[in-house]
Amino acid sequence: MNRLGKPHFNKKGGKNMVSNVLIIGSGGREHALAWKLAQSSRIGKLYVAPGNGGTRDIAKNIAIEATDIKGLARFAKKNSIDLTLVGPDNSLALGVVDTFQSRGLRIFGPTRAAAQIEASKAFAKRLMKDNGIATAPFRIFRKHESALDYVHKHGVPIVVKASGLALGKGAYPCKTLVEAEKALAEIMLEHAYKQAGNEVIVEEFLNGQEVSIHALCDGKTSILLPTAQDHKPIFDGDKGKNTGGMGTIAPVPWVADYTLREVNEQVVRPTLQALAKKGKPFTGCLYPGLKMTNEGPKVLEFNARFGDPETQSYMRLLKTDLLDVLDACIDGKLADLAIEWNSGFAVCVVLASGGYPGKYKKEIPISGIGEAEKIPSVVVFHAGTMYSDQLRTSGGRVLGVTATGGTLQEALDLAYKAVYCIKFKGKQFRKDIGAKAIAAGF
Ligand code: AMP
Ligand code: GLY
Repeated sequence: MNRLGKPHFNKKGGKNMVSNVLIIGSGGREHALAWKLAQSSRIGKLYVAPGNGGTRDIAKNIAIEATDIKGLARFAKKNSIDLTLVGPDNSLALGVVDTFQSRGLRIFGPTRAAAQIEASKAFAKRLMKDNGIATAPFRIFRKHESALDYVHKHGVPIVVKASGLALGKGAYPCKTLVEAEKALAEIMLEHAYKQAGNEVIVEEFLNGQEVSIHALCDGKTSILLPTAQDHKPIFDGDKGKNTGGMGTIAPVPWVADYTLREVNEQVVRPTLQALAKKGKPFTGCLYPGLKMTNEGPKVLEFNARFGDPETQSYMRLLKTDLLDVLDACIDGKLADLAIEWNSGFAVCVVLASGGYPGKYKKEIPISGIGEAEKIPSVVVFHAGTMYSDQLRTSGGRVLGVTATGGTLQEALDLAYKAVYCIKFKGKQFRKDIGAKAIAAGF
């Protein structure tokens, strides 16, 4: 039985038949999704392509890169995959969903056209402006000289962003003109993000706390997940360069239900309607990053996928079978599904390689995960790990240490206790995940 209280029929028509699932990606998000799917009563074979040192323990890792769209589709056909779940933005931007659908393969995620909402910040900003969706006032530039001129006229603080995909590192909030000049030079002259920097957004600096919104969309209905808060800069106190995300809490205790309803009405729905009107209907997970300003919530960016490391916290809270959720999205049946969440809080503290988000060493031995997971409620999700003779680092963000608790403080205490059990040379992490909410009395 599924959560609708009705027997599940998959495309082969069998009652309660199992589903073979392929997850595309190799990060902490994908490990968390695999962890949750592995608990489904209907899971058949579970594959992750290419996966990491953690997914190999609960699924079969397949050596196909997330960008090898044809290779992934061939694998799915050959291995009778019933459902494919896309993790990373680059697969979506390359049209993995279009390719799979054209071959009759079921897949969770937006088409290439709809995923433009993330892959092109210029597209997203224009869509927001045209549809009255609150965002920072902006200008778009293709020439370095014009961008530099504008920055000098406007003054600081200001934010400079590469329009395309840049592993979460392409946005530069600048407090001084020197910083802004350096950002423009890196993106437009040194081509740090290659073609992703062909267009550059220069926008007003917004003050306020950040909140991550995730909406599941089946083409007709959208359902919001609980709020989450990521911590993007590398150092405590939101100092240093932006990263892919150094830790999350969920839900964000100070975001009221009515604020969430407002975000649904003023951001999520109009965005989905605007995309549909442009002939780019969105299915999958729409994830707007917001700043909660004095003038209300404003959109920083849209993502067309689950957040990383938001998903690591979400999967710890989700009660409903994830396979039921994904099936409902793909089959346009989200309106019939009551998604249930565990009460309390989940947190994720990311352990990163020394030097990240700049250069860092790889293949450093990791120890202590077993000990960490003996702590009540702790689950460690792998991101940049690989297995050779033993578990070793293989990326910038290495592990996501998650814990749950009745209160935010309880979850944080357990996660940080586990963080100190895990050892690898150069390990760095933020010590202030969730600290703003705690300081505000939650
Ligand atoms: P983005 O990739 O657009 O989400 O930007 C990455 C990060 O840069 C965000 O999570 C914010 O921390 C910061 N940021 C982006 N745009 C702005 C803005 N207009 N004002 C202040 N901070 C920003
Ligand atoms: N949490 C940041 C991201 O997924 O882009």
